[in-house]
Parts: sequence; C-alpha cells; structure tokens
Amino acid sequence: MSTGQKVALVTAGHKSLGFEIAKGLLEASFHVVISARSPEAGQAAVEQLKAFGSASAVVLDLTQADTIAAAVQAIKDQFGRLDVLVNNAANPVPPGEKPGQTHLPSQLTHEELQFIFNSNFFGLIAVTNACLPLMRASPGGATIVNCSSSRGSLTAPIHLAGKPYAPYSCSKAAVNMATQHYAKEFRDAGEHILINTVCPAYVTLTPDKPPGYVVGHPSEGAAIAIKMALLDPLDGSAPSGTFSDKSGPVSW
Ligand SMILES: NC(=O)c1ccc[n+]([C@@H]2O[C@H](COP(=O)([O-])OP(=O)(O)OC[C@H]3O[C@@H](n4cnc5c(N)ncnc54)[C@H](OP(=O)(O)O)[C@@H]3O)[C@@H](O)[C@H]2O)c1
Repeated sequence: MSTGQKVALVTAGHKSLGFEIAKGLLEASFHVVISARSPEAGQAAVEQLKAFGSASAVVLDLTQADTIAAAVQAIKDQFGRLDVLVNNAANPVPPGEKPGQTHLPSQLTHEELQFIFNSNFFGLIAVTNACLPLMRASPGGATIVNCSSSRGSLTAPIHLAGKPYAPYSCSKAAVNMATQHYAKEFRDAGEHILINTVCPAYVTLTPDKPPGYVVGHPSEGAAIAIKMALLDPLDGSAPSGTFSDKSGPVSW
C-alpha cells in the first residue's frame, strides 16, 4: 500500500455485489479490505481482486462481536484509518430457506426474525460503530454506504409486491432509519462523515435465487454503492442521509 492511499472496508466483499463494489473501489485507487466469514473465501477473492489493485482480507462475522473487534483492530494496526465503509453483508432469508419463499408476518418465528435482524441490523450497527474511531482518524473525512433494498421502503411499490419478504424488509427499513439518525448525528457534530443507504437493485450471480430475480450482473447493482462511497466528505453539498438506487432517490 502506498503512503496516503485511502482505505475501504467492504463487508462480504468476497462475492456477488460485495466483490463488484470492492473492484470498483480498487479501480478508484483505494486499498480495499474485504471481509468474509471464511478465511479461505476471503483469500481466494483477494487473489482475484489483486488484478485490479491493492486488496487484503479480514475475517468478520456480523453476529460475532469478537470477529468485528479483531477485524477493525487489524485495519487499525495496518492502516490507522478507514476512509470508506460499505455495509454490504446481509441475509435475505432465514437459514435453510430460499429467497422467494413466503414470509407472512403471522407465520414467522422469533428465531427467524432474530436471525435476520442479528446480521442485517444489529451486525451492521456493530460494524459501523466499531469502525467509527478509524473513520474519524481519516484526514479527508469518511463515507459509509449501507446496502439496503427498496423492499425496506415503506412506500415504494415493491415493498409489498410478490412473495412477502417480511423479516428482510423490516430489517432494511431499520437500516434506513438508522442511516438517517447517523447522518443527523454526524451533521450536528460537524463531522465530515457521510452516510447513505442504497438499493443495488435486483442483480445476482447466485444460482439459487428464484426465477425473475436475476435481471443483471452484480456490477450493475454495485454502481450506486460505489458512487455513494466515492462522495467527497469535505464537500459541504455532498448528500448524507439519503436513500437511492441507480435511477435516483428511493422513497422512504
Ligand atoms: N442482489 C440483489 O438483487 C439485491 C437487491 C437489493 C439489495 N441487496 C443487498 O445488497 C447486499 C448484497 O447482496 P447480494 O445479493 O450480493 O447478497 P448475497 O449473494 O446473498 O451475499 C450476502 C453476503 O452476506 C454474507 N453474510 C451473511 N450473513 C453474514 C454474517 N453473519 N456475517 C458476515 N457475512 C454474512 C454472506 O456470506 P457467506 O458467503 O459467508 O454466506 C454473503 O457473502 C445485501 O445487503 C442485500 O440485502 C441485494
């Protein structure tokens, strides 16, 4: 890594959208740290990402506080700062289920709901808060991008369309709300940290998604996350506390 090179962390950057987001940030000359639950998967992805720039991997499980602390400590030890955090890792469905299965709220178990919220909401908050000291140490300010979904919108037509996605949608709505609260906290404190939430849209390489789900390559979905990650935190007119997709603002 060269002196002064900016550093980004992309959670679950080893595959799918996260991998494409990592590629985009490498192309923007960041050193990109990807996280993965499996050290082997993380290292395998780094070997591919090295074709695009300077990358490394940490092990991080959103539901294991010790792995979050160790990952952030490793970034601190090596770089002493963090310029971009992309909260990409999440679970679409409870374990053993496929996206598209019915998740009527009346049929949900506490365990299913807790599983989704543990990763998609509590884990995202834990990673964000653990990274904040390193982001505050960044001389040029920092950006945070939360990968949400229009399924987390209270009013976008898709949120009640198709098969119910209740736990996932609720977790993403919570992420959207938290994004606004963080944005206000940073703004009120005069901190140069931008935080925005995005919907990467319906793209995947994962073969187990239902028919109709696959409409594009992950690089298309990654574009909005990369765009918001590359905002200039020192630009007083840069957006923070927004929710957008490739077409522009998404209704809350
Ligand atoms: N794909 C879409 O069309 C779409 C649409 C709207 C929003 N999004 C959002 O965009 C993001 C990426 O989507 P995707 O389709 O690329 O997702 P994906 O293929 O389902 O991958 C999700 C990643 O999250 C990781 N993950 C799950 N639980 C974790 C945990 N407890 N700790 C650490 N990592 C964990 C998984 O790791 P493992 O590899 O170890 O299982 C996996 O790599 C998600 O936040 C998703 O909600 C996607």
